[in-house]
Amino acid sequence: MYNIIDGKAISAKIKEELKEQVAELKSHGAEICLAVIQVGDDKASSVYVNNKKKACEYIGIESLSYHLPAETKEAELLELIESLNQNSKVNGILVQLPVPEHIDEDRVIKAISPMKDVDGFHPESVGALSIGQSGFVSCTPAGIIQLLKRSNVEITGKECVVVGRSNIVGKPMALLLLRENGTVTICHSRTRDLKEVTKRADILVVAIGKPKFIDESYVKDGAVVIDVGIHRNEDNKLCGDVDFDSVAPKTSYITPVPGGVGPMTIAMLMHNVVEAYHMQNK
Ligand code: GUN
Repeated sequence: MYNIIDGKAISAKIKEELKEQVAELKSHGAEICLAVIQVGDDKASSVYVNNKKKACEYIGIESLSYHLPAETKEAELLELIESLNQNSKVNGILVQLPVPEHIDEDRVIKAISPMKDVDGFHPESVGALSIGQSGFVSCTPAGIIQLLKRSNVEITGKECVVVGRSNIVGKPMALLLLRENGTVTICHSRTRDLKEVTKRADILVVAIGKPKFIDESYVKDGAVVIDVGIHRNEDNKLCGDVDFDSVAPKTSYITPVPGGVGPMTIAMLMHNVVEAYHMQNK
């Protein structure tokens, strides 16, 4: 019988812990603040941004909201970021991605001070992670490590296979599993025999963005399977990159979609904002 890793419950617990920490900090006069910038009206982005603001409110973090029109010039956005970098009241800065095409995403990411980079996307944050120094870690992979640890899944010495090499999930995921002493392989669209590699995995993290791509033939008996994908199928139901019904019976632990990895991302963002406060007030 397999175990479902309940991301909703684990993220709720993390948010509860953070709420207590923030209440304690506030009782000593602290104020914690996240600036959230959205450029344009992408529907999915609006939902994410609203959820982030709601989480701030729940935990006791102030959120400053900047909703800029889609036509905003890159220079104006960079100016806003610079003013927030200088504003000592602001602990964290988040620019919701994607930004409109006329704005260079890399330039925006680099403009955010590494001290306030709560998304963990700045090259300095990524570099720190890759050489084992402290810094902000991208929220989704950080959340997956929490899911594993809080489900008592041992990572040390395990064969960990990450499918997907994005800067936001795949690459930092691989670095985090390595930091936890896993033996890590990264697969991607050019991997020659994907199935042969994924079948070796004790811990399989799937972030390829293709609905129900991974079926039971990709998975070893007793593996731990983490599904980062989220899609709507023909019946308007949510599904992941993993075909849950065929894969779950083969696993020891598996994350569902929805209610697995998804809720962890915002919980870890809140964690990073509190960490930003501590870093800036050492
Ligand atoms: N767009 C999709 N995921 C994310 C995220 O984690 N952070 C930001 N800033 N934008 C995103």
